[in-house]
Amino acid sequence: MARGRMPVLRVCAAVLAVPAFQIWEVQAQEQRCSQGVCSSTGAGTAREDASLLQAHPVSELTQARHAKDAVKRRHKHHSQTHNKIVDGRDYRADAAEYFEKVKHDSLEDRCPHIRTMTLKEVSQRWHEELEQLKEDTPREKFDKKFKDFRHAFPGLLHDNKPVLIKGHVPKQLGWRAATHWGKDELADFLGDLPWQRQSFDYPDWVYSTHNLTTFREYVGHDDSARNIFLFGSEDGCDKRGDLKKTMDKIRGQFIPSPDFAWGPEVCEAIVAIDSIGSSHGFHCHDPVWQVQVQGYKMWWLLPPHYRGTAPESDTTDDSIGWGGSPVLPDGTVFAHPNGCAMLKQVEPPPGTKSCLVGPGEMMVLPVGWVHSTCGLTNYTAAAGGWLGYYRS
Ligand SMILES: *[C@@H]1O[C@H](CO)[C@@H](O)[C@H](O)[C@H]1NC(C)=O
Ligand SMILES: *[C@@H]1O[C@H](CO)[C@@H](O)[C@H](O)[C@H]1NC(C)=O
Repeated sequence: MARGRMPVLRVCAAVLAVPAFQIWEVQAQEQRCSQGVCSSTGAGTAREDASLLQAHPVSELTQARHAKDAVKRRHKHHSQTHNKIVDGRDYRADAAEYFEKVKHDSLEDRCPHIRTMTLKEVSQRWHEELEQLKEDTPREKFDKKFKDFRHAFPGLLHDNKPVLIKGHVPKQLGWRAATHWGKDELADFLGDLPWQRQSFDYPDWVYSTHNLTTFREYVGHDDSARNIFLFGSEDGCDKRGDLKKTMDKIRGQFIPSPDFAWGPEVCEAIVAIDSIGSSHGFHCHDPVWQVQVQGYKMWWLLPPHYRGTAPESDTTDDSIGWGGSPVLPDGTVFAHPNGCAMLKQVEPPPGTKSCLVGPGEMMVLPVGWVHSTCGLTNYTAAAGGWLGYYRS
């Protein structure tokens, strides 16, 4: 590979490349508004952004904590001055109707305008690029360069655009999840281990609701009617407590990682359990990979630097900042924290690409791609991980 082909590392607007997910440190936070837009009181919005600590060598943790506190202070300031946008509508019927129409479509029709590759092709590319990196890099600089390289690799696959890996990735990787993630079997396996019920609004992005649940309880209820989903993110190996036990237990079912991803030893994994009509609204962060193990999930994708509100950053860049949402060409805010609205109720923002990801397929997103999802089947389960790491 010629030098200079590595893309410049970009972050999602000016606020570092920080996924704004609060996962392991459970906090009380009531959802006060049920629908539409309402002013935040600022109460209940104090948050721990545990992900700021993701996958850092212990020596970097102190620095990471300082940065985390700085972001918290900024967040607190802004959440008192910005409107909250929530969407409490029930999108289950829209999702079921939409899925009926598209469920027999070919991959080309489900994911138009998205490059597809096989796992083998991606793996070959990874090894070629890695060999080149080794040739080009003095030994003492390799570790640092290698982190940058992992972060940048998704962007090398197709001109800094998302790529969909076709075929049945869990089977190809030999995961237990490939054959043991039926909802009853997974419920038995996970037993009473706790999960955090989560939802999505602006400006919080993913936030934790006021109580814990179990996997069995979640998949047995229609909580997706209120956009409740389960989202587990390891965010580093130093987490303690009950939710870590949950992640530790499920983690063994999706190893090994694909070549290009971090292995379990760095604790960068993500598990996303959604039901029909539950959604993450548009947001952006570090590069990620995510394998849809069970069920179907719709993705909507916008390029990095799409114009957005940036309530959590004092940025002059007008792209979507942490906590922000897209801004349409006419200047109005795309105020839909539940992306399932785009199935039937509203037009996606201009420039949106969509991809309906089915069982076994993997989405790989380069850094900064703005994305929103919607579960289209009663039970969906996905596993993947972060490809970034905290950069101070
Ligand atoms: C959590 O809240 C939901 C909905 O309010 C309720 O059905 C469920 O029983 C609660 N779970 C726990 C563990 O308190
Ligand atoms: C999904 O769940 C709903 C509500 O429980 C049920 O009516 C429907 O039949 C289920 N759909 C499928 C395909 O299992």
